[in-house]
Amino acid sequence: MKKVGIELEGLQKRFGAQEVLRGVSLEIPAGEVTVIIGRSGTGKSVLLKHVMGLMRPDAGIIRVSGQDITRLGDADLRRERFRFGMVFQNAALFDSMNVYDNVAFPLREHSKLSEPQICLRVEAMLASVGLKDAGKKQANELSGGMRKRVGVARAMVRGPEFLLYDEPTTGLDPIMTAQIDALIRDTQDANPGLTSLVISHDMAATFRIADKIAMLHEGRVILEGTAETFRETDDPRVRQFVEGRLEGPIQ
Ligand SMILES: Nc1ncnc2c1ncn2[C@@H]1O[C@H](COP(=O)(O)OP(=O)(O)OP(=O)(O)O)[C@@H](O)[C@H]1O
Ligand SMILES: [Mg+2]
Repeated sequence: MKKVGIELEGLQKRFGAQEVLRGVSLEIPAGEVTVIIGRSGTGKSVLLKHVMGLMRPDAGIIRVSGQDITRLGDADLRRERFRFGMVFQNAALFDSMNVYDNVAFPLREHSKLSEPQICLRVEAMLASVGLKDAGKKQANELSGGMRKRVGVARAMVRGPEFLLYDEPTTGLDPIMTAQIDALIRDTQDANPGLTSLVISHDMAATFRIADKIAMLHEGRVILEGTAETFRETDDPRVRQFVEGRLEGPIQ
């Protein structure tokens, strides 16, 4: 049986009158890449923020390695967050710093490692994302694809158990997109203790990297399974999304 990494049960969240999550239940297996797909504005980023403990739900349970994090106090929740790495939708680099300092930042802030130890770790991370010689480049001089790579290196530098990506390939050309997809897959495969959760609305990318896919629609998971499940489903809402058609039940 697969080990569950993160388990969501009946997760609900509203903002004022707007119900965004209406009872999301989902198992995210440990040691795999799970991709959550869904339309823009459907609550994917909100869901990710709940998983990481950055938002608290109105109702429901979020179990991380079996522990319900919705019951934790603020201090414990902050500690829990160190088990996660996050690659933000816009990479969220410090533009005034160079690549090396961006990746070193979490270690300088949150570890007791010496500078030589930090150097070893940062250089290993930069090499693993294909940016071996880019450490001295200023963050604001990077291409979109390079920024995402730095984002992955920074999210991985403290050795997280869970790596979350929010639309890692939005705005990249098709070749760069394929390279970032390969990086997500390689990062998972090189770190068996890692669990990856990716938000995407790119079906080709999803089929390339996912062990498991879940589709979020109108605040609920309407289908979950493998790429096969998604290729074969008769659900017209899923078919429309997967095929990228204008006509269909989703308007
Ligand atoms: N802090 C907040 N306060 C109020 N409303 C919010 C907040 N965060 C998100 N929302 C609303 O929740 C809905 C879902 O937002 P979310 O960012 O999760 O969408 P998404 O699925 O990630 O979309 P996209 O694919 O465009 O990134 C949106 O209508 C958004 O305006
Ligand atoms: Mg989003």
